[in-house]
Amino acid sequence: MRKKIIAGNWKMNKTPTEAVALVNMLKPLVANDEVDVVFCVPAIDIIPAMEAAKGSNINIGAENMYYEESGAYTGEISPAMLTDAGVKYVVIGHSERREYFGETDTIVNKKVLKAIEHGITPIMCCGESLEQREQGVTMDFIRQQVKIGLQGVTAEQAAGVVIAYEPIWAIGTGKTATTEQAQEVCAEIRKCIAEVYDDATAAAIRIQYGGSVNAKTAPDLFAQADIDGGLVGGASLKEDFGKIVNYK
Ligand code: PGA
Repeated sequence: MRKKIIAGNWKMNKTPTEAVALVNMLKPLVANDEVDVVFCVPAIDIIPAMEAAKGSNINIGAENMYYEESGAYTGEISPAMLTDAGVKYVVIGHSERREYFGETDTIVNKKVLKAIEHGITPIMCCGESLEQREQGVTMDFIRQQVKIGLQGVTAEQAAGVVIAYEPIWAIGTGKTATTEQAQEVCAEIRKCIAEVYDDATAAAIRIQYGGSVNAKTAPDLFAQADIDGGLVGGASLKEDFGKIVNYK
C-alpha cells in the first residue's frame, strides 16, 4: 500500500511572520499520521516554518532548488542549503516555473537528479495545457515530460520520487479535473513508469493530483486507484487544508 502524500504549495505567499502563524494554526488540524503531510513554502519561510512545525507531523519542503552545488548563481538556493535546514521534499518543474522562469524538461531532469543525490524527495510536476487537452495530445505530452524528467534516474531512485500531475487549466482556476480525468492520466503515468522501469517501480511510485483541490473534491480524487494524494495551492493556505489532509 502506498502511503498518501498531501502537500501544500504556498507559492509566493506568506512572509516569515505569517508563515509561523499559518503553521501554528494548521498544526492541530493536519495531525494525521496515516498520510505524509508536507508544506512547501517560500525559501525565506523554510527555517521559521521548520521551527514552528517542530514536534508535529508536518514536513517542511521547498518550492524550488538549483541543480548546482554552489557558486556564482545569484538568487538561487542550493540542495545543501535545503538539507542543512532539514528539508526533505522539493517541488520541481511546477508549471508556473516552466511558464514564467523558462524551466524546460532538461532543467527539471537536472534538478531531479540533484535532489535525489542529496536525499531530497523531488515532487516532479507535469501537466498539459487546455490547448493540448483539446488537441488530444495530453498523454503524449505527459509521457514526454515524465520520461525526460526521469532521465538517468535508476528504478530504485524512481520508486521514491513523487510525481504531481497538475493540468495547467485546473491550477488556480477553480476548475478541478473530473475524478475520471485525473485518474485516467495518473494511471497512464504509472503505465509509463512500468514501461520505462518495471511493475514494482510503478507500484511504488507515488502520483499526486493537483489543480484546485479543495475539501469537497479531495475525498473522491484521493480514493482513485492511482491517485496517491495531492499538491494543493490555494486551499493549503486555509483551514481547509486540515479537511483535505483528513479527507476520509
Ligand atoms: P491550486 O494550485 O490548488 O491553487 O489550483 C495547485 C498547484 O499549483 O500546485
